[in-house]
Amino acid sequence: MKTSLFAATSLALSLLLPAGCGKPAPQTKAAKSAFVIGMSQCNLGEPWRVQMNADLKAAATGHPGLKVIFKDAQNDTLKQRAHAEEFVSAGVNLLIISPKEAQPLTEPVARAMDAKIPVIVLDRRLTGDRYTCFIGANNRAIGRAAGAWTVRKLGGKGKVVELKGLMTSTPGQDRNAGFREGIAGSQVEVVFEADMKWLEPDARKEMESALSRFPRIDLVYAHNDPGAHGAYLAARAAGREKEMAFVGIDALPQEGVAYVQQGILDATFQYPTGGAEAIQAALKILRGEPVPREIVLGSRVFDKASIATGGAAIE
Ligand code: FRU
Repeated sequence: MKTSLFAATSLALSLLLPAGCGKPAPQTKAAKSAFVIGMSQCNLGEPWRVQMNADLKAAATGHPGLKVIFKDAQNDTLKQRAHAEEFVSAGVNLLIISPKEAQPLTEPVARAMDAKIPVIVLDRRLTGDRYTCFIGANNRAIGRAAGAWTVRKLGGKGKVVELKGLMTSTPGQDRNAGFREGIAGSQVEVVFEADMKWLEPDARKEMESALSRFPRIDLVYAHNDPGAHGAYLAARAAGREKEMAFVGIDALPQEGVAYVQQGILDATFQYPTGGAEAIQAALKILRGEPVPREIVLGSRVFDKASIATGGAAIE
């Protein structure tokens, strides 16, 4: 997989030039890159993914030999499959993918591996083992910590609404399973659950249904902060936001953590983007150095008790 500078330079050129351009290109700075990384992002609709791309960009900036080409699938699985295929046929040196859904993106990633292109899977998992390295936090542990936090907050008993992330993606599955483990044995009961597909408008709509069906709700657990915020807006529109607590996941400083500071959310659990770690791992792979098969990132909870001290680590 080690590529000569000449091959990589022509690759960088072919990826950077507009299609159909016949004239020899001037040597741009980017065209001198020794390695080209293709980054397939599933969407840029949430601030968290914008942050992930910014983290990747910032980490790559210190390495002039590295060129990262970003593609945004705009939350469309078929588009993301096509993007992965395009990166493979362009012959990038390495692929980073943050897949929308596990099953449909597994095959195009396997094709990259067949073409001897190493692949770093970031944040959401694929099925099977055809990738080089997976980087992400432990969503099951985050869900479990959110469940335990809920039990403590409600004194062991209460009615909960769970607004789930896309259940064909692994963080949705794991944040759900972990939460159920966290509340097991208590009298905390999930009275309403819905798949809001990670999207704030969907969360708001689902929460409107929950509010109309249940005269009492003690807490909303949403699988991400946009979901928790959508639920809060629905409750506030119904004049019921003070009746319940709101818990989310992501804890971006400008989003979830700010919501906790403003008293909109009661807690948010950090989900690091892994952008910087992905570039570090990519550099190692490109230099032929070994990387672990899994890089597990830590998480912290930000609530009223811990926010002033930068959150508290979860187990
Ligand atoms: C953004 C997002 C985050 C969430 C992550 C899970 O698209 O929904 O809010 O933590 O994806 O993969």
